[in-house]
Amino acid sequence: MSDISASASPTALDAAPAVSLFDPISLRGVVVRNRLWVAPMCQYSVQQRDGVPTDWHLVHLGAMAAGGAGLIVTEATAVSPEGRISDRDTGIWTDEQAIAWSRIVQHLHGQGATAGIQLAHAGRKGSTWPAWGATRRGTVPAEQGGWPPLGPSAIAFPGYAEPVALDGAGIETVIADFVAAARRAVRAGFDVLELHAAHGYLLHQFLSPLSNERTDEFGGSLENRARLLLHVVEAVRAEVGETVPLLVRFSGTDYAPGGWTVEETASVAGWAAQAGADFFDVSSGGNITGVQIPLSPGYQVPLAQFVKETAGVMVSAVGLITTATQADRIVASGAADAVMLGREFLRDPHFALRAAAELGVQLDYWPGPYLRATWPEE
Ligand SMILES: Cc1cc2nc3c(=O)[nH]c(=O)nc-3n(C[C@H](O)[C@H](O)[C@H](O)COP(=O)(O)O)c2cc1C
Repeated sequence: MSDISASASPTALDAAPAVSLFDPISLRGVVVRNRLWVAPMCQYSVQQRDGVPTDWHLVHLGAMAAGGAGLIVTEATAVSPEGRISDRDTGIWTDEQAIAWSRIVQHLHGQGATAGIQLAHAGRKGSTWPAWGATRRGTVPAEQGGWPPLGPSAIAFPGYAEPVALDGAGIETVIADFVAAARRAVRAGFDVLELHAAHGYLLHQFLSPLSNERTDEFGGSLENRARLLLHVVEAVRAEVGETVPLLVRFSGTDYAPGGWTVEETASVAGWAAQAGADFFDVSSGGNITGVQIPLSPGYQVPLAQFVKETAGVMVSAVGLITTATQADRIVASGAADAVMLGREFLRDPHFALRAAAELGVQLDYWPGPYLRATWPEE
């Protein structure tokens, strides 16, 4: 893998064909207004333990839509109650949840943003205390409202309860839950679906030999470990038809000997593309603890670039991308087709407006009520 995390030199970029951060991009005919996207981020802000998104989600996502982001991907949204990380997660397994999401989606559309939803099943990382607002970590016991976590094998995530290994019927249920969630998401108005196959959640647990020791057709060889994800991609594509873009978020590596690798990620991305996926959001890690993650600005960009070049697919890069020039260089260098930012959008929901001003790009989607706040031209 080449190291472009520090990004290409200005000279090389001057010669590169000019794709810029603020160029639109088309996914199955859905035109996203730019390539500066919001990464999925759990808020743990459901009020009633019912998976229904709240006014917090409306304001949180709405601010970033007003702030000029292109695609906004919701937090990991559970396809079933047992697929939640915590009981404060959003879900999309009921009509009530879908109706609540549709209000949010309408608002994002009103601001010109493209609305994506990350469909997720936490697997063995389910039934945990929320990441904020709880004094405890790890698995919530049944007497305090927890549920038995599920996984490919009875191998616990370090510090968590041992999961129940899914049997054949359980795997069919998981696939059906992703399909029903996809149907509800499209009915709620989402333009784009993203399958969460990263960060040690259920689909990643099947992909990685560190969490999957099955001896049936869902374990062992790469083909077998990828089978659940590919079944979900195929089934979701069959359900939603040909017009809805389908993204897959991968962890590009487990950073561990004997774990999931970037080469495997590229192979499975290619197969997933044949099965009906369109675009790959490449992150890393999350399936085990105690590994060294080489954090630095743009540290996951080389993983995205490797998947793009090896599988010949479109990708986004994510992780410690925090400035306009850094984001623009990643796209302009051709390392990735788009960038997703997480924490920078939390710090500044209007980061896209700011980035455009810094890059000297005129936007025709400044929100009308904010027009008097445009940055003066230098
Ligand atoms: C508060 C928070 C919640 C997150 N929740 C999710 C999530 O629901 N799904 C997911 O795939 N990644 C999640 N992530 C990871 C982000 O999508 C992103 O990959 C990561 O923060 C690195 O990008 P950044 O350096 O721009 O923040 C979360 C990150 C943060 C900070």
